[in-house]
Amino acid sequence: MPAQIKVSKVNHNLIFHLTNSNISYILGVEEHDVLTHYYFGKRVNDYSGVLSYPRLDRSFSPNFADATDRNYSIDTFPQEYPSFGAGDFREPAVVVDQANGSSITQFAYQDYQITDGKQTLAGLPSTFADSADAKTLSIRLYDHVAKITVKLNYTIFADSTIITRSTKIENNGEQPVVIRRATSMNLDIPRNNYQLLQLPGRYAEERQLFIEDINPGIKVLDSKRSASSHMQSPFFALVTPGINEQSGTAYGFSLIYSGSHKSMIQKDPYEQLRIQMGINDFNFNWQLAKKQSFQTPEVMMNYSDHGLNALSQSFHQLIQHHLIRSKFVDKPRPILINNWEATYFDFDEEKIQRIIKKSAELGVELFVLDDGWFGHRNDDKSSLGDWYVNKQKLPNGLSSLANLTHKLNMKFGLWFEPEMISADSDLYREHPDWAIQTPNRPMSLGRDQYVLDFGRKEIRDNIFKQMCAILDHADIDYIKWDMNRNITELYNRNLPAAQQGEAAHRYILGVYDFMDKLTTRYPNILFEGCSGGGGRFDAGMLYYTPQIWTSDNTDAAERVRIQYGTSLVFPPVAMGAHVSKVTNPNTGRTIDINFRSMVASSANMGYELDPFTLTDEQIKVVETENQWYKDNRDLIQFGQLYRLISPFKNNQAAWMFVNDNQSEAIVMFFNLMNQPSYPLTVLKLQGLDPDTKYQINGRQIAYGSELMNLGFYPMGQPTHDFTSARFEIKKVSSHAE
Ligand code: GLA
Repeated sequence: MPAQIKVSKVNHNLIFHLTNSNISYILGVEEHDVLTHYYFGKRVNDYSGVLSYPRLDRSFSPNFADATDRNYSIDTFPQEYPSFGAGDFREPAVVVDQANGSSITQFAYQDYQITDGKQTLAGLPSTFADSADAKTLSIRLYDHVAKITVKLNYTIFADSTIITRSTKIENNGEQPVVIRRATSMNLDIPRNNYQLLQLPGRYAEERQLFIEDINPGIKVLDSKRSASSHMQSPFFALVTPGINEQSGTAYGFSLIYSGSHKSMIQKDPYEQLRIQMGINDFNFNWQLAKKQSFQTPEVMMNYSDHGLNALSQSFHQLIQHHLIRSKFVDKPRPILINNWEATYFDFDEEKIQRIIKKSAELGVELFVLDDGWFGHRNDDKSSLGDWYVNKQKLPNGLSSLANLTHKLNMKFGLWFEPEMISADSDLYREHPDWAIQTPNRPMSLGRDQYVLDFGRKEIRDNIFKQMCAILDHADIDYIKWDMNRNITELYNRNLPAAQQGEAAHRYILGVYDFMDKLTTRYPNILFEGCSGGGGRFDAGMLYYTPQIWTSDNTDAAERVRIQYGTSLVFPPVAMGAHVSKVTNPNTGRTIDINFRSMVASSANMGYELDPFTLTDEQIKVVETENQWYKDNRDLIQFGQLYRLISPFKNNQAAWMFVNDNQSEAIVMFFNLMNQPSYPLTVLKLQGLDPDTKYQINGRQIAYGSELMNLGFYPMGQPTHDFTSARFEIKKVSSHAE
């Protein structure tokens, strides 16, 4: 069903109903031109006014200045974009300081516009859709005293369960105003018993799944790091208690932004929820001169009444079809090998050549030269900012390595960390003021490096020129874009004192501007995002880089959890997953090659090891696995993911991939710690056609309905820790006799 936006009048109120075959989002205009929220959820045919908010006298809830009774107060009323100071004491979606010192606003509905399709946002990553695939509603609100316009944008996509929202604020007055908060969205939800699901983490332990009760008061999930961060993914969900992969209601919110973000969940005194998401307003302000406007990032708002799998699948589809703009989005991704954990900084041309040759023999398709190829970088203390080849290590330059790689029918990739500068670099010696710093304050170190102020164009231009010099001269097929520390002593030297609150967002806008230029100039380069692993794994980055290194933690047992959590929002094809060496550098754990391969082959597979350290037996596994992955990657990278058993609740994990016509599936089961007298697990599949007969691993034949309802035992007594099993499920006959 195509996306539709219906406009009607119910009880004299203007009603907007965004709908498709799955969902409805309903808002309208009530007395005093208050833009009112009615509903977001499963599709309804129409809205006839059933959920009209009761008019009640609530003590200590103010009424409008011209009120004739006490029954209407915005203090409790469900709104689309509330503000503070004129009756609503809850968290405002927007705060703007005006010339006279007041920050009170009250926005009244003005008019609306409906357009086909979905435009991208200027300067920001955002979803896109052509006219057949989406409809967009723009509503204008106006504060007549402050002379400020708020434009709310809502897009509904055909056949999706996601609505996107963003906000634009415009100064229509004569005096400048200062935005102190501008959330991307606000949602007021009637009293309910939802729980909060979030994906907090830390370095090397990103996106761990937590579910908790929502109590009265305010809960904030945020990052103040000028990066979306390892610590708090810009995502949360409201879920019904007992939610699982197959059943339960979930609302998921993912911000398309890579900087400091904030999600706010408020349970008000009447047990109603107000939720907001957007740029973090901590240390944020934005000056708007007369006629200037400010565009917030976009948020994806997703609804599922079939548990978490359906929620994730919907995110995956929208991200793949309407967010990632790289031409590689639907291309099979190459199996790569990265030399980082093989050599760290300790390599020379010969060592790299040997790894390249050996990798080609193993069936690897892309070699990535990681950190240490530039300046005089032999450890992490120097040369960031000096993007020219380290001739001591690589006397014949990058071209010679790229040519060798290409001769062996592999692609050649290169690591950059464009946003950084080392104190020991030519760039720093020439431009010490390019590192982000606050006057008269010492600069905190992070991994012995500083951050370049990408909010300043002259700095971006310099790095861009240096990168182009490399990319125009060596035949580079892939770039890993890293970012290995967060910003401290934040201050933009080009901005006056009053505008320092703009520095963090201007930095991210600068990063986006750079990535836009680079990816446009080099459309044939496959980009992979990275930030000390998954420290900037967000929908904003995915717009430019169709894959991201999921975590520096390459321990396969840990990765099961990290990839499980990440897959809640992001598709497996976007998640870099490498088989690494043992003992694992992160955990000191030794896990056998089969388990390691299976975890890596359930996402965007690669290697992070020295192939010369592999035993003959391990080499055989690697060769077989590479061939297996090539034969099956269409299904893994572009099939539908179903998570079956959560490693956050169990000593096991399982997931499966199903193709579009349900004729093929691949199931992976992981047992973590071994136990004597092992309690047997039954694995019940999902997403198959109940009436189709399937053959499992070329042996047992069973109906889809059996595999989904009875299930099977994937494993007997394991013989050691970290064992895995894979099942290839293939259709044998079209329908039951
Ligand atoms: C980060 C990345 C690693 C590697 C190193 C190099 O930590 O996540 O994969 O590239 O930087 O310094």
